[in-house]
Amino acid sequence: MMDLMKGLKRTHYCGELSLENVGQEVVLMGWVHRRRDHGGLIFVDLRDREGIAQVVFNPEENREFHQKAHQIRNEYVLAVRGKVRRRPEGTVNPDLKTGEIEVVGDELRVLNESRTPPFLIEDNLSVDEGVCLRYRFMDLRRPSLQQNLILRHKVARLVREYFDQQGFLEIETPCLTRSTPEGARDFLVPSRVNPGRFYALPQSPQLFKQLLMVSGFDRYFQIVRCFRDEDLRADRQPEFTQIDIELSFCDQDDIFKIIEGMMVAVFRGALGIELKTPFARLTYQDAISCYGVDKPDVRFGLELREVSDLVKESRFKIFTEALEKEGVVKAINAKGCASLSRKEVDELTDWVTGQGGGGLAWVRITSEGWNSPIAKFFNEAESSAISERMEAEEGDLLLFMAGSEKVVNEILGGLRIYLGKKLRLVKDHQFNFVWITDFPLLEYDPDTRRWVAVHHPFTAPRDEDIPLLDQEPGKVRAQAYDLVLNGSEIGGGSIRIHQREIQTKMFEKLGISPEEGVKKFGFLLEALEYGAPPHGGIALGMDRLIMILCGADSIRDTIAFPKTQKAFCPLTEAPSEVDGDQLRELFIKLDLKKPDTR
Ligand code: AMO
Repeated sequence: MMDLMKGLKRTHYCGELSLENVGQEVVLMGWVHRRRDHGGLIFVDLRDREGIAQVVFNPEENREFHQKAHQIRNEYVLAVRGKVRRRPEGTVNPDLKTGEIEVVGDELRVLNESRTPPFLIEDNLSVDEGVCLRYRFMDLRRPSLQQNLILRHKVARLVREYFDQQGFLEIETPCLTRSTPEGARDFLVPSRVNPGRFYALPQSPQLFKQLLMVSGFDRYFQIVRCFRDEDLRADRQPEFTQIDIELSFCDQDDIFKIIEGMMVAVFRGALGIELKTPFARLTYQDAISCYGVDKPDVRFGLELREVSDLVKESRFKIFTEALEKEGVVKAINAKGCASLSRKEVDELTDWVTGQGGGGLAWVRITSEGWNSPIAKFFNEAESSAISERMEAEEGDLLLFMAGSEKVVNEILGGLRIYLGKKLRLVKDHQFNFVWITDFPLLEYDPDTRRWVAVHHPFTAPRDEDIPLLDQEPGKVRAQAYDLVLNGSEIGGGSIRIHQREIQTKMFEKLGISPEEGVKKFGFLLEALEYGAPPHGGIALGMDRLIMILCGADSIRDTIAFPKTQKAFCPLTEAPSEVDGDQLRELFIKLDLKKPDTR
């Protein structure tokens, strides 16, 4: 390798060259993106992380290297010396950053060969994801993935700069620790020196950051890996990164302001976009009622409105029966959609039934009034009251669903998103943030017949709701908030409980006995007795944020070495089986029958 490189020093990245370099001699090093032979001339698109430059070898100018250029194949690693020139008239490539110039090759060295790649290194290729991840080192050569990771680096740098300026300290917390309950299963790590005992990988640094407040660090942040054994989706990975924050002597507004400032710095620095602050706020109740979900995409309207009170006397049985069962009837006004064909409307109904909804009723608003199979069930007063509530105008399409509140919100909320996409209501580069506030503190889980924490057990209730904890735990509001961007939950946090009695009471509500509380979280309870300051914080999902910033469809496109949907790494084949010796050292015996997982 030393010899191959001898006397050659790279002068530029391929993607960096422009008209300004015309006339200069340059040395490039990179990968063969493509080679084309054209009437004697050989064109090589050479690629590095900054982009692609066209190199041309002419047999009349240099026979030896032209001959050599014949042998090169895709993904060979080359060093090229040559002179930059303006491309001849008619050969400019407007799709390429360097499309106005080319390099006339005087010297070519093959630094390494490559086997035939398993797939072309191109964006937007439909290659099976398993194959891409198996050859991730090649997959990562794709320009879009390189850009995503470069952006990720930029964001991390901007975040660190911002928090440093705001007086935050980055402090690392352990990965080998005890379970922190964030609602998922733990990844466990056996301890060889403590046979039969296990560490848990942190689901978040929650308890440590609270302890750092007790220690007086005042303002903490960390870009930190978290581990959760949960069902994976496009926006979830078993190990992911949080921008984690905690501060003392603060209220919710302080936290919102700090995070808004961070987002402004990140969007400005990474995308050159100026965000407007303060971000919108919506209570949990309003979010559910208007959008059906607690992470609304507020880039477009189509809000849900309840019409139960207006239809309860009607003759439409599906609605009245749902109401008799304590359900609701809600509707969306699909603006201007009366023109959808019958087939398209049927597709909406199919979507709803596919999601497990009973059905979808619809009304076209025409110049003659309601046009709908259900129109006959409503008298004039009813239909006009509904039209008024829905702000319906000629040309609109009203879509109704009846059923339990939970199901109607979930499915109609989903239909809203489906329609938003179908009607292309979302523009590119539109970033709408909204804070969701006033989450309930507790939620009843009918399966385990227990109250569970909606956020986590260390979240403080609203002071004025504390008396309700005993009588009506479901009504207690938490000092918790989520940050939602374009319909994706990118962060969540809360003001914490900083008094031991309230923490013990919270555990009691969650069915954690005082003994169990001490056993699992004794260190936290104890710390609360030694001068814990009031404190609060938030964690942002960094992978999700990057995913939105770079317009990716999956967080896998923002992580260098992600896992598949089945938490498997096709590249390293982790998780793998281990030697019997290793298990013996750990005092572990595998004798339960293994489920078939693949
Ligand atoms: P929470 O559990 O809401 O809060 O997590 C914070 C944010 O992390 C992101 N996130 C994930 N991203 C990718 N893959 C996952 N599996 C995954 N799980 C969560 C989400 C989420 O909003 N300790 C608290 C924060 C606090 O109270 O300060 C916590 O971890 O974007």
